[in-house]
Amino acid sequence: MLRGVFVTFEGGEGVGKSTQVKKLEIALKEKGHDVVVTREPGGCPAAEDIRNLIFHPDYDGNWTVEAETLMMFAARSMHIKEVIAPALTAGKIVLCDRYIDSTYVYQGNIKGGAPSFMRELEQNIVKEVMPNLTFILDVPAEVAMERVQSRGVENHHDRGDREFYEQLRQGFLNIAKDNADRCVIVDASQDEETIAAEIIKVVEEKLK
Ligand code: TMP
Repeated sequence: MLRGVFVTFEGGEGVGKSTQVKKLEIALKEKGHDVVVTREPGGCPAAEDIRNLIFHPDYDGNWTVEAETLMMFAARSMHIKEVIAPALTAGKIVLCDRYIDSTYVYQGNIKGGAPSFMRELEQNIVKEVMPNLTFILDVPAEVAMERVQSRGVENHHDRGDREFYEQLRQGFLNIAKDNADRCVIVDASQDEETIAAEIIKVVEEKLK
């Protein structure tokens, strides 16, 4: 039985997810909640190894979309087993920086992978371990590009052009529209404190 609350943060490159995950973690811990913070791809040793392989300079950007999708799900399978499911079973709040929506957008919308293939993997691997709440952090493509350029390029996704950033944005907005029961779009071009206040308000409502 998954008694906890599973919150994911999604959005393109440079939307400020990590900052908001940190702020929410601090706010929830101050209120006495038991919080586990994690990320994808990664979150446990085996999945972090898979992440290093996905973004290894020798292969980054050159995987077939099927190979990349399988590795995302292989990492996710281990992450669920070792971190997410145990924490939710113990009644904790899990905050995860990216999850399955990123696969549908990056490997699906951007790289042309078949959604049916992803759905099959989702049914077999993710099963009921779906987020109760997903924040889609949304900023205009130009703002995201500027932020990534000033932060520095980390993987081949960061090297995308304006069209890539626009496709990412639309991909996540479509997911929010199709999953309105769990997704909340946040205007991430506002200042960090305003965004954090908006997010904690929604989470507190969910925890009631
Ligand atoms: P981040 O930790 O900076 O968000 O980087 C993770 C990268 O992995 C980011 O470029 C998006 C990418 N990614 C996918 O392509 N598919 C996925 O399923 C996930 C979880 C991440």
